[in-house]
Amino acid sequence: MSGTAVVTGAAGFVGSHLVDNLLKEGFSVIGLDSLKTGQRTNLDEALTHDNFRFEEVDICSKDLLKMLKDPIDIVFHLAAISSVKLSTENPIEVNRVNVDGTLNMLEVARRRNAGRFVFSSSAAVYGNPEVLPISEGTSLNPLSPYAASKIAAEMYCRSYGHLHGITPTIFRYFNVFGPRQEYSEYSGVISIFINQGLKNLDITVDGDGSQTRSFIYVDDVVKATILGGRKNGSNELVLNLSGTDSISILELAKRIKEYIPESTSTIVHRNAREGDVKDSIGSMERTSAVLGFSPAVHFNTGLESTVSWYRSRLS
Ligand code: UD1
Repeated sequence: MSGTAVVTGAAGFVGSHLVDNLLKEGFSVIGLDSLKTGQRTNLDEALTHDNFRFEEVDICSKDLLKMLKDPIDIVFHLAAISSVKLSTENPIEVNRVNVDGTLNMLEVARRRNAGRFVFSSSAAVYGNPEVLPISEGTSLNPLSPYAASKIAAEMYCRSYGHLHGITPTIFRYFNVFGPRQEYSEYSGVISIFINQGLKNLDITVDGDGSQTRSFIYVDDVVKATILGGRKNGSNELVLNLSGTDSISILELAKRIKEYIPESTSTIVHRNAREGDVKDSIGSMERTSAVLGFSPAVHFNTGLESTVSWYRSRLS
């Protein structure tokens, strides 16, 4: 199946890689992005493609239906405020974008007869479960407004599946990393540590750094997300997308320093972050059974490519 895909968050980190891959697979793609955190340059390649159209728009906009007049086959909904930290500082805005925005996109999907809705949710929905690796049946426990917003959005997706037959595929992304991840105090830890290392700034570890994460490379995430979109069937799917090993944040800081041998950065500790999850690694059993997918990019290989990418942008 190809057809018309709408990608929200198209100029963002994961969204822009998804757009590139959908175009390669023969989809016509309409990309939506407010460009508040997304970068138009992430779409440089896509914008040369005849089957790509870009709209700069907020996903909460009431103008979406005017912009999207034709039938849509599939919606990949990635646009979100993705920062736990920002959600503790500005929960109202996070709710607007992550919850109202999802509902608005579900309405677009319903009004334009989209058969499928692929939603990028988060491992944050699990909080701190007792059993690791975390399986999809684990109860939900929001430790931050960000996690609460993702749970609410998941529930709206499911309700539209029941009511309107828009079968949702809900991916719970664990920690995604790779080229094009923005660098700011609200972005992913790998992009922060690499940029600090390359700029000879202190590498800022929150708390003692014993918290762990399982990182998954963006190419793997995109591959699985497209497989999820292509999957036929009328059952809603909830699938983890996690790396297969975990690493502590302190260990990560040391590893990144090794990959930037010229760096004079030192590792410093700050207060632990409010609403932080302690340990996070997902079971990939269901995802591999349903999609026949397992992550292919080794963590160190992904890290090396990511360091090279930031290095080339800074030089
Ligand atoms: C991340 C994603 C979130 C995703 C979730 C899924 C980002 C910004 N967040 O949240 O969208 O849904 O994974 O699991 O991509 N840390 C430091 N120093 C720093 C920055 C972070 O020590 O300068 C620590 C944090 O306190 C945390 C860990 O690194 O313990 C990971 O933080 P972060 O990259 O922000 O990701 P999550 O909060 O896990």
